[in-house]
Amino acid sequence: MKSTALANANIALVKYWGKRDEKLILPQNSNVSVTLSELSTITTVEFSDDYDEDIFILDDKVTSGKDKERVLSQLDMVREIAKSSQKAKVVSKNNFPTAAGLASSASGSAALVMAATDAIGLNLDKKDLSILARRGSGSSCRSIYGGFVEWNKGEAGDGTDSYAKKIESYDYWPELRVVVGVVTLSEKEVKSRSGMKQTVETCPFYDGWLKSVDKDILDVKEAFKNKDFSLLGKTSEHNALKMHALMIATVPSIIYWNPSTIRIMNAVKLWRENGLESYFTIDAGPQVKLLCLEKDEQEIISRLKAVDGVIDVISCKLGRDAKIIYEHLF
Ligand code: PMV
Repeated sequence: MKSTALANANIALVKYWGKRDEKLILPQNSNVSVTLSELSTITTVEFSDDYDEDIFILDDKVTSGKDKERVLSQLDMVREIAKSSQKAKVVSKNNFPTAAGLASSASGSAALVMAATDAIGLNLDKKDLSILARRGSGSSCRSIYGGFVEWNKGEAGDGTDSYAKKIESYDYWPELRVVVGVVTLSEKEVKSRSGMKQTVETCPFYDGWLKSVDKDILDVKEAFKNKDFSLLGKTSEHNALKMHALMIATVPSIIYWNPSTIRIMNAVKLWRENGLESYFTIDAGPQVKLLCLEKDEQEIISRLKAVDGVIDVISCKLGRDAKIIYEHLF
């Protein structure tokens, strides 16, 4: 009744921003991500009659409030499928700062559903794991897989056709790198969940976003197919800027950038003009992720470290599928 899973974070190249169903966590638009090798969550889940209530310990702290509620509601879904009422102890560790826009909810929710379903004796396939992960945090349905991943928005009202699928495996494009520039260790002020709801309700440009996203998806898939780094980078950077334009034009406006975020964005454009090809993407937080090729990785790392306000740099390859591991956290 005890299992441990490891899942990697992912970064969207074509973003998910806005739900068509708040409860089931169904997106307004399909989206595409890359799984990141160096950012991961390990989670151990044990179901036992010895526990009177569910316990959730994240990064050595007993957790309450919204974070715990999210874990409990996913445990309840797993218990419902398994027809069990046993309480659980969940211990989870991120190897990177939690909730600052490095997709900790994605790797966290994917590791949780994989460990919990295994611990309770369910043998779910990846499609069902992806659907369960989605119910914790939308983007986490993509963290079940490594490599390049697409979350198809689906059409069904009950969400049964809204899950992630692998486009290409982790070893498909070995030269590709995602270099993360960490510019803060604080938690973000506006969580994605409430931020995207506000955008759908108030942003006058939201229709324009929905109309343009499918073309971005076609372009990144074309870029994967031909290993066309320039097309991949241009499309991803433009898509991220479009999403941030939506956020800025939301009422009240949501601005996730800090001065270092903008410094990096400007630097990357300048490097590109001078022949060093790299592109940025940014999620719901101030951290910046740079796409580059292996030949430029060391140069990008050292230039990024030199930008004022950059606290840490983490260079990632494409990460692998989430998996069960045999070293438990307790
Ligand atoms: O899955 P959530 O609720 O953490 O939202 C993710 C939103 C973005 O990271 C900004 C975009 C994405 O597709 O991951």
